[in-house]
Parts: sequence; C-alpha cells; structure tokens
Amino acid sequence: MIRAFTYSDKKLTLLDQTRLPSLTAYVTATTVEEVCDAIRTMKVRGAPAIGVCAAYGLAIAAHAAPKTGYGAFMAAFGRAADRLASSRPTAVNLFWAIERMTAKAAKLKGRPPAEIVRALEAEARLIEEEDLSINRAIGENLLGLLGDGATVLTHCNAGILATSGYGTALAPVYLAKERGMNIRVYADETRPLLQGARLTAYELRQSGVDVTLICDGMAAAVMAKGIIDAVVVGCDRVAANGDTANKIGTFGLSVLAKHFGVPMYVAAPTPTIDLGCATGRDIPIEERDESEVTCGFGVRTAPEGVKVYNPAFDVTPWEHITSIVTETGIACPPYGERLKALTGRAREQR
Ligand code: MRU
Repeated sequence: MIRAFTYSDKKLTLLDQTRLPSLTAYVTATTVEEVCDAIRTMKVRGAPAIGVCAAYGLAIAAHAAPKTGYGAFMAAFGRAADRLASSRPTAVNLFWAIERMTAKAAKLKGRPPAEIVRALEAEARLIEEEDLSINRAIGENLLGLLGDGATVLTHCNAGILATSGYGTALAPVYLAKERGMNIRVYADETRPLLQGARLTAYELRQSGVDVTLICDGMAAAVMAKGIIDAVVVGCDRVAANGDTANKIGTFGLSVLAKHFGVPMYVAAPTPTIDLGCATGRDIPIEERDESEVTCGFGVRTAPEGVKVYNPAFDVTPWEHITSIVTETGIACPPYGERLKALTGRAREQR
C-alpha cells in the first residue's frame, strides 16, 4: 500500500507529493525546519497528514532540544511548535496536534528530558495509529450511507496520500474494494494544484478502483446526467455550526449537489472539528502564491502581470451539507449539538 510518510530513527520520510504522478521520489526530514518546509511546499498535504507529520516534527525537535533542564528543553520545544504553527493556516489538525504534543510535554514537567522525549515520540506514533483507525471508522460509516455499486464525485485528495492510510472521503471506496464491493469514483482534477488528477486518480488507479477524471468545470454536466449518487469530500476545518472549509471548489460542488438533489457528505475526523470557530467566517483561509495559477508546474498559462486571487480553500455553508460523517457517528443538520456530542465521544474513547 502507498504511504504518504513513515517515521523511524528520528527521521520523517515523505513521498514527495509535488512530484506525483510522474515521479515517485522521497524526501527525508531530520529537522523541524525540514518538516515545516515540507508542509509549506505541500510535499505532504491533506489535513490529517499535516497533523501527524507536525507531531513527528515535534518529536524530532524534542530529540534535538537541550537536555540541560526542563526550562531549556521546553523553550526549544516551544520555538519548534511556533515554527510549525506558521506553516499552513487552515487545517486545524496542525494546531490540534501541536496542542496535544505540548500538553503531553507539560504533563511531564519535572521528569528527565530523555523520558519526555520518549513519551513525545510515543505520542506522535499514537496520533498516527489513531488517525488510521479514525479513517477506517469513517469509511464504515460512509459505506453504510453509500452502499455497494454507488458512484461518487470527489474533489481534491482526501485519500491515502492525505492521511496515515485509507483516507477519509476515499475510505469507503477502499473498504468496499477489500470486501469485493464496488464504488466508482469521478475525481475533479482540482485546480490549481491538481490534487484530484495527480493524487486521487493516481492512488485509486494503484488500488484498482474504477476512477474517471474530469476537469472541475465538468462537474455540473456529469451530475446532470444523473450518474452521481453522492458527492463525498474531506475537510480542513469544520466550525461548530457545521460550516466546512475544504479545497477551493468544494463550495461550488455543494451548490451543484443541492441543485441536482444529490447528497453531499463531508468526511470529518473529530480532530478536524474546531468547536472554537463558531462559524465558517472564523476559519482562516490560506492564500497561496499567484504563480500556482499563472505558471503551474512551470508552464505559463496567463499573461505576465495579470491580477490573481488564489485562495486555497473555501467554506461550504452547513445548509448545503447532507451529513458530516465522523469516526464516532454521523451528524445531520442542524449540526451544533450533534458535533459537540460526537467530539465529546471521541475524547472519551481516546
Ligand atoms: O491543499 P491541500 O492539498 O492540503 O488540501 C487538502 C484538502 O482540501 C483535503 O480535502 C482535506 O485536507 C482533507 S484530507 C483527508
């Protein structure tokens, strides 16, 4: 099975997602700066993968931090956490993982630094293991909604490459495959960085899944044919009221889904739910360099000097979402109380 990242011996090895599908190249990160760079430049991307890799980045930082005393150790650890927190703003999993690792270190105040390092490394591994089981549970819940033989439309990449394994939106597809069932996928190519074309189509084909690639602007025409049973997407941050930030273009898909009466499912691990954001207006939306739009992959496709707007995410209003599917259960609108209950249940199980 493809792996987006592996950690061993103070080293994070990443499948460089900027090179796929033409090249299978790996990069290694042995410092927190290298982990930050890999997240910023999207060698690793996808909300859950960013969170897990940030946790490993902090394990790496803990190894490198001075062991002369708790104060010096925590000062270095805190600087590493701040650096990671500035790498990408929208996926809340990044901040969730940093907080969890920081809380772990704080709980061990007074213990020898070497012991704290071991505990932090174990915590990062636990975060990765939990991510994998979260994804399987989301897959089960989504498979129950979709059923054998469904055809889904997805956007961006919420698959193996975005997580510790299985993906979130793509988890039911892989579970179906394992069980001899069949879910067909239409994948939006996902301008401007083409995660749908380069990553989703790649990983689904590697696994023998029936996938059809379309340009983003074709989604309406495909839905008009009546062949899409559900739109299934991942998310980078879900606000307390269910408003959901995901890859730019998801909002548009949700409008289409509503128009055509197609259910819109958001696959949401509870670490991606941010009850601290009341609504989608509180979610910080990353804007990326204009060259991604005018000169993607080294080919100039727009005139020099043209004005560009390049938000990496948009917010789908909760009213457009049929269900938010988490590892602890399925929420339907209105979302407030149910999201609180599902995240509470996840905390109890942890
Ligand atoms: O900019 P990216 O590629 O990190 O954006 C990824 C997405 O929008 C995914 O849908 C989201 O992170 C969920 S991944 C399970």
